[in-house]
Amino acid sequence: MKILAIETSCDETGAAVVERQGDSITVHSNVIATSMHIHAQTGGIIPEAAARNQIQYVVPVIAEALDKAGISFTKTTAPDIDAIAITYGPGLIGSLLVGVETIRTLSFLWNKPLIPVNHLFGHIYANWIKDTIQRTTQDTLSPLFPLIALIVSGGHTDLLLMKSHTDITWLGGTRDDAAGEAFDKIGRLLQLPYPAGPKIEELAKVGDPKTFHFPRPLLHDAEYDFSFSGLKTAVLREVTKLQKDKQLEPQLIADICRGVQDAITDVLVTKTLKAAEAYNVKSILLSGGVSANETLRNSFREILNTKYHMQNIKLFVPQKSFCTDNAAMIGAAACFRSEGVDWHHVAANPELYFD
Ligand code: KG4
Ligand code: ZN
Repeated sequence: MKILAIETSCDETGAAVVERQGDSITVHSNVIATSMHIHAQTGGIIPEAAARNQIQYVVPVIAEALDKAGISFTKTTAPDIDAIAITYGPGLIGSLLVGVETIRTLSFLWNKPLIPVNHLFGHIYANWIKDTIQRTTQDTLSPLFPLIALIVSGGHTDLLLMKSHTDITWLGGTRDDAAGEAFDKIGRLLQLPYPAGPKIEELAKVGDPKTFHFPRPLLHDAEYDFSFSGLKTAVLREVTKLQKDKQLEPQLIADICRGVQDAITDVLVTKTLKAAEAYNVKSILLSGGVSANETLRNSFREILNTKYHMQNIKLFVPQKSFCTDNAAMIGAAACFRSEGVDWHHVAANPELYFD
């Protein structure tokens, strides 16, 4: 079953052609256009600018994804695909509407069923994409149930228990800022380019781990919730204090980055492993833009490899290009999770959470 998938929930316009083969997903094409350079100038996403760029990119990106997958179509003949998958939420309403309305039109024109996909499940299902999965040891091609899935992106931080593709329990999420949002807001304080996650990771490599110890909220809380806004406040307090006397030296900025990355990593790893132990899972899945962070990946690997009782848990992390927003992950989720529906039944839902 070949699926054309489209992702337009934020500032990336993605289209991909994917196919399920057994228990994993083959990606035939994966095209992304981004308006990130525009938002980098303003230090954050301007929803109206993101939507305008979605309008500009969406049709060319879809055409390119079909072309790269070797699928032709003309004004009178539809492409040879079985269904079209579309992100219908959560996200920015303007951006979502561009994708959803474009795809409703194509679905009607080409007479193809539509598969509405929750963007958050898209992130998780990036872990089923073939040849992109990094494993701790071994042989297993796809994640094994039961599993714990951690989503860490610019808008979300969530932990889920999945006993199967349909038996899913949300365990907890952030009470305020998402992990990626914390990286980006702290980056702004430090005058780093947007999005700040990759830059903070780069600077943290030369930062001293002992100079700053930032708070790790809810670290030992019984729940699986997260909170990152206090971290931003702690950094602001530190930066204000330091800037009273002088400009921030580059080494001090690197030290702050190291302290921030260590605090976020510590919380994410501790909570995820606690859930993995409590539910006796076979796999842990990382996903979302923040899971591109090497320190985070390595911390998980190290602990899983060294703690004897956890050595059988397999760690899955998507290739970096499938961590940040893309359409292949939306196609992957569509292959496992949903039936196609008529275009009348699909509408953008910016507030969508876990269904
Ligand atoms: O998943 P994503 O592309 O978009 C959302 O759905 O939100 O995630 C973007 C987020 C941004 O906050 C960005 O700073 C963060 O992922 N990010 C990183 C890294 N690469 C991207 N955070 C930490 N380290 C990275 N290497
Ligand atoms: Zn995302």
